Amino acid sequence: MKQFISVHDAGNINALVEKALMYKANPLQDIMLGANKRIGLLFLNPSLRTRLSTQVAATNLGMEAIVFNVDKEGWALEFEEGAIMSGNTVEHIKDAAPVLGSYFDILCIRTFPSLKNREDDYSELYITQFIKYCGVPVISLESATLHPLQSLTDVITIKECLNNSPLGDGGKPKIVLTWAPHVKPLPQCVANSFAQWINAWGEAEFIITHPEDYELKEEFTKGATITHNQDEALKNADFVYVKNWSTYKDYGKIYENDPEWMLTEEKLTLTNNAKVMHCLPVRRNVELSDEVLDSANSIVIQQAANRVWAAQAVISEILKTPIP
Ligand code: CP
Repeated sequence: MKQFISVHDAGNINALVEKALMYKANPLQDIMLGANKRIGLLFLNPSLRTRLSTQVAATNLGMEAIVFNVDKEGWALEFEEGAIMSGNTVEHIKDAAPVLGSYFDILCIRTFPSLKNREDDYSELYITQFIKYCGVPVISLESATLHPLQSLTDVITIKECLNNSPLGDGGKPKIVLTWAPHVKPLPQCVANSFAQWINAWGEAEFIITHPEDYELKEEFTKGATITHNQDEALKNADFVYVKNWSTYKDYGKIYENDPEWMLTEEKLTLTNNAKVMHCLPVRRNVELSDEVLDSANSIVIQQAANRVWAAQAVISEILKTPIP
């Protein structure tokens, strides 16, 4: 694996999931793999899970992990080619990225979308420029439109649940991705990425439900059934993934903050006693009710804990790939 930016870098998804579960069973089995190597974790935005789980994963592989909060501790970066830097930006990515590449064996970066201009966000300028200039393998810790480490974790968690409790008829699980209310517009990354991974995995009946105007990019959703009827979507679901995201066409807004879209215990009765997923952080009693989050149906903590094993599987694959 030369980089990890989207599902296209994952190779065989089931093999990567098995590797992650192998690390979960024996975290330190490859403790020498990353000895004398260094990984840099660069954040342009806040994080709890991604930051700490990737640090733990790298440490389990014997690497030194260094975190740099670029937004708070670094110079303001310029990403536009040919920019006349007479404004607030101090250092061009063309200069900063190769310097960072000279300090680290692997670099990881988190960037968020502006949610102001869809074309700009979907061009993935920040991470693309970073990859172009840093000269070492790059892992996305969430980009403007995708969150691949989260999505790998999500497939790991679904597979783990199915391993422990297979479906009665041996058929495909029904997985529902449902929009949820929120108090502010959020990126489409987690939802886009989940759709991309579940479609690529291909071992589920996959339904996406959201109010009108909350489409996701078709490139990622193609293959899923899409409906505006949440109750219909939830019927007999085995897994329900709850997430807010902002509008797509009239980009980056929230119009509908309809509390009816919050997943409640009552709605859960429509499902096949579904496992409830969310990437966290979650707004309690806005996106998901306390009763659901605190119930046996919720697997959000298991999901967040599995972030370590997803990151460890990916870092390990990159460490094992010879540098040309
Ligand atoms: N799910 C997730 O990416 O969490 P953090 O934003 O805390 O890293």
